[in-house]
Parts: sequence; C-alpha cells; structure tokens
Amino acid sequence: MLAPGMSTEEANDALTRLIGADALARLDAPLGEAAGLPNAAFTSEAFFALEQARLFARSWLLAGFAHQIPDAGDIVPVEVAGAPVILVRTTDGGVRGFHNVCRHRGARLVSEPCTARRDIVCPYHAWTYDLDGRLVARPYFGGKEAAEQDLPASPGIALAPVRTARWLDMIFVDLSGRAAPLDDHLAPVTARLDGYDLSTLGHAGSLAFDVAANWKFACENFIETYHVFSAHPALARFAPMKQRSAGGHEAACFFNEYRFVAPEAGRGTGLPHYPGLADDKRDRGAWFLLFPTLGIEIWPDQFTLFRVIPEAPEHTREEIHVYLMGEAATAPAFADARAEVLEMWRALNAEDIGLLENLQAGRRSPGYHGGLYSPAWEEPVRHFARLVVRSILEEPGP
Ligand code: FES
Repeated sequence: MLAPGMSTEEANDALTRLIGADALARLDAPLGEAAGLPNAAFTSEAFFALEQARLFARSWLLAGFAHQIPDAGDIVPVEVAGAPVILVRTTDGGVRGFHNVCRHRGARLVSEPCTARRDIVCPYHAWTYDLDGRLVARPYFGGKEAAEQDLPASPGIALAPVRTARWLDMIFVDLSGRAAPLDDHLAPVTARLDGYDLSTLGHAGSLAFDVAANWKFACENFIETYHVFSAHPALARFAPMKQRSAGGHEAACFFNEYRFVAPEAGRGTGLPHYPGLADDKRDRGAWFLLFPTLGIEIWPDQFTLFRVIPEAPEHTREEIHVYLMGEAATAPAFADARAEVLEMWRALNAEDIGLLENLQAGRRSPGYHGGLYSPAWEEPVRHFARLVVRSILEEPGP
C-alpha cells in the first residue's frame, strides 16, 4: 500500500511505472488520436492504492445520509477511501465524523449502526467517548485499585475528527481536511439547478448492486451517452439519440441535459413534480457527475443519486438512492408509483452491469492498449481519465 503522504514526485514515478510515460501523452493527444488509460489502471492493486491515497482520500466523497442518523446519539459506521469512519448525530443536532478507531490500542469502535447512544464504548477495554469524541472514561487504566472512571482531570485524548459537510440529505467526508470547501465543489451543480425546488425532497428508496468491474467503468458509463442506443432500448425510446449530446464539464462536475419524448412510468408520471416547476422543465432530464464518484439524475418527479463505491481494482459497489417530492416519498398512496421508479432504475442499471463486466474482462487482453475515443461523444470520458491522472499527480491543497 502506498503511503497517503507520498510526494508528488513519488506519485509521478509510481504512475509512470504502472501505466508508462507514453500513456499520459497518449491521453492528452488531440481527441481523435487520444487513447484511454491502459489496462493496469483498471486491474492493478498498486494503481488502486494510488487512487485511494491520492484521489479518494483528498476528495469530498459521499459517505452517508442524514436520514440514517435522524436523532441524537444515532451512529453509523461507514468506509471512506478504505478507512473506517463513523458519522454521529450529536446532542445539538449536528453531524460529526470521526475515524472509527480507539485511541488506546486501535480497535474499531463501532461495527453496526446504533441508535440513541449517549456515548461510544470501545468493545476491547471499554474506553468511553462522548458524542463529541472526548474521552470520558477508561476503567482500570491505572491498575486494579483504580477508580471506575480512572481519568485525570484533563486527559486531552479524543477521537480523531474527520471533516464533514452536508448538502440536502447527503453527508460528505474529506479525509484529507484540505479539499476546497464543499460549496465550491458543488457550485457547478447548484448553479444549474435553478428552477428546481429541492426543499421537499424525501428519501423514497434505495438499491444496491455488486459489480465485478473497476469503479472508473461505472462512472465513465454514467457520463457516456454513446452506448444508449445499443444498450438501453427503453431509455433510447424515452430520449432518442438525436435529442442527446455528449455533455460538458466544469471543474469537477460533468453535466448533460436532454428533452424526452413523453413522461412515462418510473420517470415523470404518477408522482408530483418539483413544486412550481416551469413548463419547459417538465420534459427535461438532466444528469451530473461530481468527480470522482457521485452521479445525480434529475427528472421532473425525482432527484436520484448514483453512488459508486470502489472496493477493489476489479470490484465496485453501486448504490441508487431515489428522492421524491413531499409525501410522495413515503405515503402509502404513492407506493405503487414509488415501486415503478425503483423497478425502472433496477432494470436500467441491470442493462449496464454486464457491459461493465465485459469491459473489465477486456482489460485482461494484451491486445488492448487504451483504444480510442469518439470525438463526437467521448470527450467527457477522456476528460474523466485525465482528472484521475491529474488528481494522482496534484500537489496537496493548502
Ligand atoms: Fe479500545 Fe483498548 S483498544 S479500549
């Protein structure tokens, strides 16, 4: 495993060893001549370790959801860039993040979601922390005669905090503590959401998928329009290729929008639309990908997250989280329509999984060296690959 604190020179050397010096030049070539990342970027443990240390650990990543910890004392353990973290609802109603590791001998503190806790007790020797991470007890630490709490007045020991920030229901974590503010990261998305009233969104349901493929394939596939006509017949009828474009990007945000032919079950019918939505947005779909791993799809009746969780070079977990307007998210009267939305997403994503796994299988071929991109459709895909490389090579933030 490469150390998170490795220098940019060391990262550059490691990258060159793994994918070759010419791979970067080929990626940067004029679009019709450019080649994608070579096979090692999708199969190598060392490349994945570079991504964990230099990309994921230095980015805002979606780590969990406010609805998972609604009340004070609720705690959920999560994993961020391979590191165990807990998200805690504190007594003042805020959300805090801590490294999920005891300051004594390093045991993982919390292994299952829990509710209404007043403290966090280590399962090994019962060191006890309050919800703000302060150590409040370490029984018998000073010996068998020691008082039960056995703490000096100011032990000065606390759980290591993790930088967190919220947007809507989403809780983001920046493990490095040095990424630009979350609002800056989100700005290219929020600037394009004018006219969408997000205030009534409620969590309506989630889906999860295991995929035997590298995480980059899932993200590239999300931003790549080219495959829609051949892989997604129903989606192509809903919004034909002639109404689609390659999309664009700004900073760490990829974006696209399109007009669809008519609303249909699962997207646009049977559920309330955004409050006050203008007529010219009632036949519009829009999506975003917040680099590196968070997709957002917007239709008139929903706000859906596509979360990509890299677990190993050749294994990825995908999650889909659907948000609907007001009571549509939970009321029994909308149960059938909600089920249609989730089934639409399940079927749509199922059409992609085999394709992603075929891409992964293809990366075992010595006959493939990065391929080429369609200048008409795949400029965003090339840009995504460049962002991966740049993130690995980038100097740390201030
Ligand atoms: Fe946690 Fe000992 S490792 S109390």
